[in-house]
Amino acid sequence: MEWTTKKRYLPYNKWDAETLLDLQAQADRSQSQLHYHIRPSSGLLNDPNGFSYFNGAWHVFYQQYPFGAVHGLKSWHHMKSADLVHWEDMGLAVKPDTQFDSNGAYSGSATVINDKLFLMYTGNVRDQDWVRHSYQNGAWMNQDGNIEKLARPLIEAPDHVTEHFRDPQILKHGDKYYAILGAQDKETETGKIAIFSASDLTGKWTDLGYINFTDKDMGYMIECPNLVFVDDQPILIFCPQGLNKKITSYENIYPNMYVAGSKFKFDAAKMTTSQTAPINLDDGFDVYATQAFNAPNGKAYAISWVGLPDVEYPTDNENWANCLSQVKELSLENGRLIQRPVAAMGTLRQAGHLIRTEKIIDGRQVVESHAGQQYELKITIARNQSGTLHLAGNHTVDQSLQLNFNTGKDAFFEIDRSKAGQTFNEKFGVTRKIRLPENQDLDLDIFIDHSLAEVFVNNGEHVMTLRYFADQKNDKIALTGKNSLNYYGTFWNLADM
Ligand code: FRU
Repeated sequence: MEWTTKKRYLPYNKWDAETLLDLQAQADRSQSQLHYHIRPSSGLLNDPNGFSYFNGAWHVFYQQYPFGAVHGLKSWHHMKSADLVHWEDMGLAVKPDTQFDSNGAYSGSATVINDKLFLMYTGNVRDQDWVRHSYQNGAWMNQDGNIEKLARPLIEAPDHVTEHFRDPQILKHGDKYYAILGAQDKETETGKIAIFSASDLTGKWTDLGYINFTDKDMGYMIECPNLVFVDDQPILIFCPQGLNKKITSYENIYPNMYVAGSKFKFDAAKMTTSQTAPINLDDGFDVYATQAFNAPNGKAYAISWVGLPDVEYPTDNENWANCLSQVKELSLENGRLIQRPVAAMGTLRQAGHLIRTEKIIDGRQVVESHAGQQYELKITIARNQSGTLHLAGNHTVDQSLQLNFNTGKDAFFEIDRSKAGQTFNEKFGVTRKIRLPENQDLDLDIFIDHSLAEVFVNNGEHVMTLRYFADQKNDKIALTGKNSLNYYGTFWNLADM
């Protein structure tokens, strides 16, 4: 089936219900399907949008194209949760059905105003010549989940940006509203974060310029900028497309990074920071468009798209693609962002059991012979050792997701997905590696969900997130190394959400 532009942008009501049901059934049947993560009910999922707490529940929306594994006519799909772990599908929420979002209800955010949730998003519009126009639109969601769009856009693109102007994050600060937006500067064609303010939400929005937070070029376009406060320090999360790798090294097609600041001056459009270059938010293969927010319980939470723009995934030929990460709780230590699972993730745990150093049999230490494909493994690997932890292994673990480590001198941790089943996106490398402090125990908290691995390293100092597409029969966990390796930990199977 060929995805012509015309087909991708066919209005939703031109698709018949049966096609959608077939696509949903196909996604449900997929061997690689996720069981405790947010995944598209059909078609393609991308950015998390409108992550918020409203009316006694957590809400997140995701960008979706429901009719295939392609980036077509986008809408927002609504999910709701009582605990940030078990999500209920609330269905299609923001549809691309007005003159200000006719070619896609693109990414945005949400904030509670009085007794409603206010959504701010980009309306993507193409004219007869297929020239893009971006409108920053608003909509109210009431307590019953009904959404009513504002008749007019809140912000139209200023003259100093190109057609690439999107992904508003709305924030209330003092007695004003602020919106920060991803932008491409027209004159320099570089990536910027624009900021606007308004005293009256539906009144005039004032252009405050670009946020000054670095003296370096942030590539050719910044997508999905997101400001969150962690221990009262501003953290700017963003996706600098085309960032020069000499500024910060990365291997994914586009990076998702952050800069931690000391002060954020809204009206002066400035974040003071001592950080000289952005830092990768996730050290794995597949995280993008992370959205974080300050919750009323005083905590800061983040959720990411596990997937990347402009690359293909093996499930594309099953007509669905991508998922969201689990929710991560943010904290700061020595200026570095720490990301940890939320406590409620523990509610997924089935009876656990302890694991500890085993004898080597045929050069392997078997941790679990039948781990299944849905589990959490917390493991501490003692210092001064080197070897490989194999996940999703076959009997001889020559096929496996390989977690290579050295906890002695020149300490490192590396994930190699080249032998973990169907390979993909190899052009961007098959390994991801981080440095570790020397001669220290290595703590891993690993979450596996069929085709997704989320590895929290040293209590959230790093997160490495990735998709992999192994034979679901391969469910052995083992360690290999020159010598017998010392480790201990706990293994839990995890329930469906
Ligand atoms: C990022 C992004 C956003 C845009 C959305 C469209 O992945 O390109 O910039 O709003 O996806 O789905």
